[in-house]
Amino acid sequence: MNLIKYRGNDLYFENVSVKKIAKKNITPFYLYSFEQLEYNFNFFHKSFKSINPLICFAVKSNTNLFFLKKLKKLGSGADVVSIGELQLALKAGINAQKIVFSGVGKTKEELSYAVSKKILLINTESENEINEIIKIARSKKKIVTIGIRLNPNISAKTNKKISTGKKSDKFGISLDRCFKILKKNSNNKNIKIEGLSVHIGSQIKELAPFKKTLDVINKFLLKLKNEGITISYLDLGGGMGIPYSALETEFDLKKYANLVHAFNKNHKCKIIFEPGRYMSANTALLVSKVTYVKEIQDRNFVILDAAMNDLMRPALYGAKHDILPIQKDKKKFNRKIEFVGPICESTDKFITYNNYPRLKEGGYVCFTNVGAYGRSLSSNYNVRPLAAEIAINKKSYTIIRPRQKLKDLIK
Ligand code: LLP
Repeated sequence: MNLIKYRGNDLYFENVSVKKIAKKNITPFYLYSFEQLEYNFNFFHKSFKSINPLICFAVKSNTNLFFLKKLKKLGSGADVVSIGELQLALKAGINAQKIVFSGVGKTKEELSYAVSKKILLINTESENEINEIIKIARSKKKIVTIGIRLNPNISAKTNKKISTGKKSDKFGISLDRCFKILKKNSNNKNIKIEGLSVHIGSQIKELAPFKKTLDVINKFLLKLKNEGITISYLDLGGGMGIPYSALETEFDLKKYANLVHAFNKNHKCKIIFEPGRYMSANTALLVSKVTYVKEIQDRNFVILDAAMNDLMRPALYGAKHDILPIQKDKKKFNRKIEFVGPICESTDKFITYNNYPRLKEGGYVCFTNVGAYGRSLSSNYNVRPLAAEIAINKKSYTIIRPRQKLKDLIK
């Protein structure tokens, strides 16, 4: 489903003209479709129906409270990586028993808080962290259920900067070590190791790395079975990729579901997924205004009021987000154009096009697929306030997080 469409020359998101909203709000701002979010969640849920997994949305990809409240209503749990994300998920009303906590560097304070909230699983990433949890559990006289994140030593064939499953990566615990930890702690009075988790990377478009991961886990679970150790929860992480342009293929979720279904026939674990991007990326646009069109010898720079601080992905990973004009001019620029931001850094640039419809200074454009790691990765670099978040609401809209006030930044 694609809710972004031109009607004549005007861009609509759901049934609302983007220009109408742009004219009434300070740009840049993020514009969300909760209808798209609902579709994404239900599609994911339906695709994995035969497995009936617990879907724990990766909060790091989108931290808007209303976004999380909507997901909660749809039945989602949460994957969190800090005490802040955990508090946010709880504030959105997500049941603690649907929350998993990942991350290599959880502090004592974070672990203690997670224990006190009785979340479903703390997915541990080192033996030191497990020992810390044992101490906390002992002092609180509690039994804490935890998971162990495996490092399956698999290359996810994605951007190197977002790959997490190789043995040289800081994430997870090797299979050998994990096996020893499980044996050593099988009768521990303070912790129960009930889960295994993996997450091999993000924006993965091929099935092969996921298949390899399942093969590794399959062997590992059989080895554990021989020792009389069983695992209740298998958390397969997130990582499913999305097409960032019309030319890219879609990730085949149904084929992945078939693989997991076949795998789990032997193991009968409760499956958990932690999708971030797949759920949230296409739910938002970043709307921006053209400040200047600057001509140089071989191209025009279209200088926007959105910058790398508002959308970090191009500067950080070389990611390409398509930019659409909000009103399509029939005439084209007859030369190359490059969209850039106003920040004094060469990496503050977004994307280059040939044959782009002409744009005027003061006109609007929008970046697509920015609902994941868009607003959540943005910063105050250059003392720039964080952009507002606005959600379409039938024929109108609601501000779901106001733009930061400059006066709050210069206090
Ligand atoms: N679970 C764990 C343990 C993770 O570390 C991540 C993402 C996810 C789930 C969700 O992954 P997803 O389904 O969104 O691929 N900022 C980068 C992406 C970094 C992902 C980090 N971990 C980007 O903008 O591409």
